[in-house]
Amino acid sequence: MSAAPSDPAIDALKARIAAVPLGAATEERGIVLSLADGLARVAGLPGAGLNEVLDFPTGARGFVLSLEEDALHAVFLDPPEGISAGATVLRTGKVLSVPVGAALLGRVLDPLGRPLDGAPAPDVDALLPAERPAPAIIERDFVSEPMETGLLVVDAMFAIGRGQRELIVGERQTGKTAIAVDALITQSLRGTVCIYVAIGQRMSAVRRVIEAVRRHGRLDRTIFVIAPAADQPGLRWLAPFSATSMAEWFRDRGDHVLIVYDDLTKHAATHRELALLARQPPGREAYPGDIFYLHARLLERAGKLSAARGGGAITALPVAEIDAGNLSAYIPTNLISIADGQIVTSATLFAANQRPAVDVGLSVSRVGGKAQPGALKAVAGRLRLDYAQYLEMKMFSRFGGFGDAARLARGAAIAHLLAQDRFAPLPVLAQIALLAGLEAGVLDGVDGGRLLALRQALPSMVAADPVLSALGDTPARLDDGARAAAIALVRAGLGAA
Ligand SMILES: Nc1ncnc2c1ncn2[C@@H]1O[C@H](COP(=O)(O)OP(=O)(O)OP(=O)(O)O)[C@@H](O)[C@H]1O
Ligand SMILES: [Mg+2]
Repeated sequence: MSAAPSDPAIDALKARIAAVPLGAATEERGIVLSLADGLARVAGLPGAGLNEVLDFPTGARGFVLSLEEDALHAVFLDPPEGISAGATVLRTGKVLSVPVGAALLGRVLDPLGRPLDGAPAPDVDALLPAERPAPAIIERDFVSEPMETGLLVVDAMFAIGRGQRELIVGERQTGKTAIAVDALITQSLRGTVCIYVAIGQRMSAVRRVIEAVRRHGRLDRTIFVIAPAADQPGLRWLAPFSATSMAEWFRDRGDHVLIVYDDLTKHAATHRELALLARQPPGREAYPGDIFYLHARLLERAGKLSAARGGGAITALPVAEIDAGNLSAYIPTNLISIADGQIVTSATLFAANQRPAVDVGLSVSRVGGKAQPGALKAVAGRLRLDYAQYLEMKMFSRFGGFGDAARLARGAAIAHLLAQDRFAPLPVLAQIALLAGLEAGVLDGVDGGRLLALRQALPSMVAADPVLSALGDTPARLDDGARAAAIALVRAGLGAA
């Protein structure tokens, strides 16, 4: 018996069968050989590539960290609970990607863009690979625009420009995070897109940073990418890369982005931990040989784009920790050689309450001088030398030596001015006025309390002054009239203080 040729149900079925594409479908299935501390060794996936996402039977995901001839090492992105040797692993064919877009602003996210703030997942514009090539030389422009931090000690002596990579390095508890976060807050108030990346920090410390930005800066211009110490090492490893992809989405729209990596010493430790588990041969200080390349390819992604590419920029402030003042340890030297300069914090200055505790002898900004507003440069020229000489003299005078009284008075004033409370940013114009007054000798011999009062009063005085406010936020020149107005203002401010 056969169905009637005109039966519409049969015809529909035939059409559906004909529409099914026939052909060999392959699915690569691997098997977990062994597991250790957030890492799995997997065999049977010869086609898998680096950074490819793998699916585990519990729903957990991982990505390919390293390839061997007949096996690979996958890092877990979710807790590996319930997975044991013998479990099957599926390829996804997708590289590790992160959600990007304006909806990330104001959010606290993990390195995969999953919310940590209790709010729903952000509406995503696109997915970008976590690892992306750095812009080529011809796509870049020189660093030439200032990126003010609001910290006199940085802006006046170690100016940072948009697109620069400036390392903040020092011992534990010397105010490294404070410098980075103060700069971030200042920039968020200027409308810059800011990203704070916490790698291996305690959640309590992370919460303090978020709270500081909420109270003093603009949360709606800031993204927090958090991979705490207690999380999967895979997430800690991923955090700086995925956060940079988030930054690049804004940069490619012509925005300026400031990104703080806090900190890359902990990132290096995570890389070492995973590499040792993956049996990569350990090198110097037991770090695998590719650690330099890892951080170089991360920080190469910062920079200023050419006008043809939209002129956007990513400024990077990586943080690194050192032991006992040892700047020549492996990771700090690597980072110093990759970055365009370093702000070195000093435990001695910090303990002496000279905060931000910036060591002016060891710190340097290799490109920022070109980006420093000309008017600030005009009054900050001698600052570093005068301050360094003062510190030296002070040390000798402790042993009963003689100091030049005038120089000591100048130096003491500088030390007072450079010490700055947290969350008290000083606009560039006020910095210029202050330093013009200093240069004119108006501040020599004035006690610390009055200097502090002056500094607090100066921003609003400058804003109200017709000559100075006409110069704009970051003036390129300071003519004699403006200089005289600045000095007069400082005198007036001292009189009131
Ligand atoms: N300019 C400042 N004025 C007053 N206190 C400050 C200043 N800078 C930092 N501090 C305080 O010093 C402490 C240590 O600062 P911070 O956490 O920034 O140091 P850190 O070097 O990042 O420490 P860690 O090594 O733990 O990461 C904090 O309590 C901070 O509030
Ligand atoms: Mg810190």
